[in-house]
Amino acid sequence: MIKMASKPGSSFGCYVISITLVHLFIIASIVSLGTCQSVLNESSTSDDDDDTPKAFFIFGDSTVDAGNNNYIDTVPDNKANYKPYGQNGYFQEPTGRFSEGRVIVDFIGEYAELPLIPAFLQPDADYSNGVNFASGGAGVLPETNQAMVIDLPTQLSHFEEVRESLSEKLGEKKAKELISEAVYFISIGSNDYMGGYLGSPKMQQSYNPEQYVGMVIGNLTQAIQVLYERGARNFGFLSLSPLGCLPALRALNSESNEGGCLEAASALAQAHNHALSGVLKSLQEILEGFKYSNSNFYDWLQDRINNPTNYGFKDGMNACCGSGPYRGVFTCGGMKEVKDYKLCENVDDYVWWDSFHPTEKIHHQFAKALWNGPQTLVGPYNLHRLFAKTKVLRDLTIADLVDTTNSGVPLVDTSEL
Ligand SMILES: *[C@@H]1O[C@H](CO)[C@@H](O)[C@H](O)[C@H]1NC(C)=O
Repeated sequence: MIKMASKPGSSFGCYVISITLVHLFIIASIVSLGTCQSVLNESSTSDDDDDTPKAFFIFGDSTVDAGNNNYIDTVPDNKANYKPYGQNGYFQEPTGRFSEGRVIVDFIGEYAELPLIPAFLQPDADYSNGVNFASGGAGVLPETNQAMVIDLPTQLSHFEEVRESLSEKLGEKKAKELISEAVYFISIGSNDYMGGYLGSPKMQQSYNPEQYVGMVIGNLTQAIQVLYERGARNFGFLSLSPLGCLPALRALNSESNEGGCLEAASALAQAHNHALSGVLKSLQEILEGFKYSNSNFYDWLQDRINNPTNYGFKDGMNACCGSGPYRGVFTCGGMKEVKDYKLCENVDDYVWWDSFHPTEKIHHQFAKALWNGPQTLVGPYNLHRLFAKTKVLRDLTIADLVDTTNSGVPLVDTSEL
């Protein structure tokens, strides 16, 4: 994924990052000045046409990359197509996924009864049920790990290619239907804050944290807007994790704070999450037919990090694979300068697979929660409802109302998710 170029200044953690709703409305209004209304409704043909395959399009970074980086010229940090990645044997060999097996979108695809969604750059990839454009190390901003990743604007242009090829293959009408019924999953932002900001003295000089978060959110909002203009309607988002508690960032912090989490990084993630929730609420007001599923996994993951045994883990602090303090030195696989690394015995005891990425078990729990988790964690739609083809299933049901009664206490036991 990324390497921190330098240790960030500790004074940084003192900033209070707050992006007001007013800002967000401004951002949302500016980006909505495009021609979004013009393509509206053209594609609202029969909701029940079951000949059109369901599709799942994925954008983002190493949290969801299914192997695109195998095909680009980049540094070993941004690749995962060597052992022990993929060691659990679910796939025959390392695939480029940054885990010991599957990642979140593999599980979601399975719940949606789709075949495995291929990486866009995989030769002969079949796009009929969607495609995965994500690239390990990528950020929202093109400056993040520039020239070493497929950045978000490029991922969007790849989507445009796929959209055109679907039109040729299925015909205009069917392709439009597929595009508007598909689910678009976006998991990106961590690299903008880690390498892109905390690892970049230049960025820190040019922008204060609040300005920087505003810039990332502004660009992410534009990306959502571009997809919407091209006919996308159903969006899913994975919130950012407590970034400062990744083994890699904890290790950076090991001398100063006896191995506590790097608060500056977590604060940025939290500010990003708050800002994105605000933007999504505004977009829902502005863009007709825009539906989304946002998640709040920040506290969810923090709780597993702090209290691993409550959730079937033994270790929430150290990585399974890596070296140095917390195995936070990103050496897993020995493909970089440092060839030595340690590997744990039982991956399922761990929250963290390598210095930056969670284990398959966490990905699995994430996916279950996104699929049908309670509204305290995922909303306003969960992915199950976003994937539902008929209007009846998508609209609120009595069960949903029951879920939100009892003053926000979820009826579903969230610890199971
Ligand atoms: C998008 O990011 C660029 C830097 O890459 C920045 O100059 C621009 O202002 C950002 N756009 C928005 C809408 O925030």
